[in-house]
Amino acid sequence: MTNTAQQDFAGWMSHIQQRTEEALSAALPDPGLAPERLHEAMRYAVLGGGKRVRPLLVHAAGAIGGAQPERLDRIACAVELIHAYSLVHDDMPCMDDDVLRRGKPTVHVEYDEATALLVGDALQTLAFQVLASAPVADSSSRQLGMIGLLAMASGSRGMAGGQAIDLAAVGKQLDLRELEFMHIHKTGALIRSSVLLGAQAGTVDGAVLERLDRYAKLVGLLFQVVDDILDAEADTATLGKTAGKDADNDKPTYVSLLGVADARRLAGEMLDEALAALEPLGERAGRLRDLADYIVHRPF
Ligand code: IPE
Ligand code: IPE
Ligand code: MG
Ligand code: MG
Ligand code: MG
Repeated sequence: MTNTAQQDFAGWMSHIQQRTEEALSAALPDPGLAPERLHEAMRYAVLGGGKRVRPLLVHAAGAIGGAQPERLDRIACAVELIHAYSLVHDDMPCMDDDVLRRGKPTVHVEYDEATALLVGDALQTLAFQVLASAPVADSSSRQLGMIGLLAMASGSRGMAGGQAIDLAAVGKQLDLRELEFMHIHKTGALIRSSVLLGAQAGTVDGAVLERLDRYAKLVGLLFQVVDDILDAEADTATLGKTAGKDADNDKPTYVSLLGVADARRLAGEMLDEALAALEPLGERAGRLRDLADYIVHRPF
């Protein structure tokens, strides 16, 4: 990327991050509303941190089909609420047992375990409330399909299922195919749905949607491969979460299976494939290209 293109992308990112923050803040219950402690903890979990990669993908994919930005804000909000819920539960002592998230104490540390459990529950249902309570598509049947898509991506055949596989894999050596299956579910599914939901908020034909889906599947897996690399390579201050946690928790990862150098090489190959999937879309897919590149080269 040239310097100007880099500045343009950085400016677009911070614009989307800012409008996502505003949409999330408006969607979350006021902290003065009872039960105050739960509402305060929900806002603590969601606001003021995170890269907002899923909202960025929603907006970048949505722009391709000319979707209204207000619709994309709602979809971005819904996906990010599911993501934030997954992080709160992922950090709990019964799962990864992490004390640091987005540079702050995790929700169960700052509040307590029962509150963390309920924060996750409430964020998940809020996501569907946001997605169901105003138009996000040209027809109500399309919108129903989109709600179903997010449910599928979040549940036992998507993120929650992937998390179950992750927990069952502690202390085991998975082969590459099993590891890919786990990552596609725990992280890939929600990322894939971000792209598809953004696209479906506008008008895209079947051939374009197919290309976007291929891109989204690759980038979803790629995202977790890089998360595995960062866990092994980056430091806690940069990550905003405890570095080296995967090895400490005896988790099978792309790094434990392949080593850092081969994991990086694989990430590079997957990036090339994701970019190739966008080839026929031309200029329109510029933001998605930049995002794929960002996902591979991100510092945290
Ligand atoms: C972390 O997700 C958990 C994974 C699914 C790998 P992100 O890296 O998107 O975390 P935030 O939202 O930027 O904090
Ligand atoms: C998280 O994977 C996946 C989900 C939260 C669904 P990780 O356990 O690797 O995420 P981090 O590294 O704690 O962010
Ligand atoms: Mg985990
Ligand atoms: Mg974790
Ligand atoms: Mg990780």
